[in-house]
Amino acid sequence: MTFILAIDQGTTSTRSILFRGDLTIAAVAQEEFPQHYPASGWVEHDPEDLWRTTVTTMRAALAKAGAAAADVASIGITNQRETTVVWDRATGAAIHRAIVWQDRRTAETCARLKAAGHEPAVAAKTGLLLDPYFSGTKVAWILDHVPGARARAERGELAFGTVDCFLLWRLTGGRVHATDATNASRTLLYDIHRGAWDEDLCRLIGVPMAMLPEVRDSAAAFGTTISDLIDGPVAISGIAGDQQAATVGQACFRPGMMKSTYGTGCFALLNTGATPVTSKNRLLTTIAYQLGGKRTYALEGAIFIAGAAVQWLRDGLKVIGSAEESGALAATADPGQDVILVPAFVGLGAPYWDADCRGALYGLTRGTSARELARAALESVGYQTRDLVEAMRGDWAGDADTVLRVDGGMVASDWTMQFLSDILDAPVDRPKVLETTALGAAYLAGLQAGVLPEPAVFAESWALDRRFRPAMDGETRTRKVALWQDAVARTLTRRS
Ligand code: G3P
Repeated sequence: MTFILAIDQGTTSTRSILFRGDLTIAAVAQEEFPQHYPASGWVEHDPEDLWRTTVTTMRAALAKAGAAAADVASIGITNQRETTVVWDRATGAAIHRAIVWQDRRTAETCARLKAAGHEPAVAAKTGLLLDPYFSGTKVAWILDHVPGARARAERGELAFGTVDCFLLWRLTGGRVHATDATNASRTLLYDIHRGAWDEDLCRLIGVPMAMLPEVRDSAAAFGTTISDLIDGPVAISGIAGDQQAATVGQACFRPGMMKSTYGTGCFALLNTGATPVTSKNRLLTTIAYQLGGKRTYALEGAIFIAGAAVQWLRDGLKVIGSAEESGALAATADPGQDVILVPAFVGLGAPYWDADCRGALYGLTRGTSARELARAALESVGYQTRDLVEAMRGDWAGDADTVLRVDGGMVASDWTMQFLSDILDAPVDRPKVLETTALGAAYLAGLQAGVLPEPAVFAESWALDRRFRPAMDGETRTRKVALWQDAVARTLTRRS
């Protein structure tokens, strides 16, 4: 039996998923790891936790399926994007905890660069905005706060990488310092049009080029694991950031196809083909995947709080015992109450990009209960997706599928998916395989290893579980959207 092993290193847990040659799942192992919040708005991970959970889950997945290294054709890595690791090339030890994508500590640096007028030039090259979300200013922060780090980085003694790159370094015993084009495209240092690190951007942001990894295709020969990790060496032949891997896993290969993944946050990507589309609506332009040296681009809408709103109901407010209860509770909410949650717990991402605003609840009355709060939390996911989809419609002149393919933990909730379809006024397709991120990484690895077919053939295997169709009347939709828009306008710090 031939297997493909996908490593999915996410924001709150690491998973290893062992796929059979027909891309059905043979075994899954998952481990959570601690989050560190050293100051308000700061989020860190210990890189040793990311590494340790990668190794233990790899071993556990293989053990569950009774598989050995020799049975694995190849490994694909997918990862939480933008999260930044800087390590010592000589020892492999990180010089600081990883600064996580959600971390806002470089907001002032970004504001300063923006005030100096740099944003248009940065956006033109990278497709991104000057926001603390991306890696570049996080790298510079580490170099400026760890004594001696900047000089060491300039001498070439330190390496920078997103999580894929750090894991690849460790998996190959420090032999390979490389990443793929999708991860590079999230750093603020990479010119997505030329497909190269940009010297001017590196100088502006303060990142020595000597610490940057080599950038390869998403399906490429990335190296071989050291033999004592599992019971023998395995080739690593696929890497993509998790949202891009999900785009591949959802088989969104044609321009105009769109997917939206609901994890901690929500990330919608619209395939725009070989042409990078510049957004007029503050969406990101990013590399969806790079195969055979050819870049495929996407427009991306990133919102920071989706599933995290449900976690807040469970862990913060303690009004539900498990995430699964939220839909049933929301379904019993009073239709006469217009309670709106703007979940700006860490500011708002696309299309607002307000790093300073914070969450707000509107429309509370004496009659408001946990039911209305649960509905408001789930509805906020639909409203935010609608904002992204509307922005995409404004930016994309080509034919776009009216259908949205969805995945991620939250899409198990029928109530939430029905609301999403209602508020988008468009069909929402939930696939049979919900592990689309891992599936995408496995596909890229299997493609490179020669055990899986071309994208067009793989796309035919995508299977629908359920299509949700809009059932809300137009008047209700218009009224609800107006309430949301008013709530957002009142929450933003930069009112226009
Ligand atoms: O850009 C951040 C994103 O890649 C994180 O995804 O699924 O780990 O929340 P997730």
